[in-house]
Amino acid sequence: MIRPILIHPDPRLKKVCDPVAEITTELRRLAEDMLETMYDAPGIGLAAPQVGVTKRLVVMDCIKDGPPEPVILFNPEVIWSSEDLSTYEEGCLSIPDQYADVKRPAEVQVRWIDQDGQPQERQFAGLWATCVQHEIDHLDGKLFIDYLGPLKRQMITRKMEKLKRERAREG
Ligand code: NI
Repeated sequence: MIRPILIHPDPRLKKVCDPVAEITTELRRLAEDMLETMYDAPGIGLAAPQVGVTKRLVVMDCIKDGPPEPVILFNPEVIWSSEDLSTYEEGCLSIPDQYADVKRPAEVQVRWIDQDGQPQERQFAGLWATCVQHEIDHLDGKLFIDYLGPLKRQMITRKMEKLKRERAREG
């Protein structure tokens, strides 16, 4: 089931999300819905707060060409970051059509619980590294525009407020 994606500014996108205590059927269904919503958008990552659920859950698939490689991460944590940084032009499904360069560690080691309740650990590089950091930020109420200067951030926020007004009018 495709779920509506919240658009910034929204108080639910600013919350620190709660850890998941147990991987229930309901949470597995939520993860599947989030993947479906992400592929439909289309996007390469989605965090639970973006569909209004303030729990620590992220889904990703950074494969652009080739067979899909969906990853479901409950309670993801960065346990190591490289000193090397890399810059990617980031966007966000909660901030449609706005892009900006963000500098982050080029590689990260991430630990999480998978959909079967098993602990997983993996080193991410390239686009995957940027994406997983962007998504984990969402779980702490942080958006990529928070890395930008205040003027750029305000400009984007005003555009989003306008977009939301237009969408509300269209019903
Ligand atoms: Ni995002």
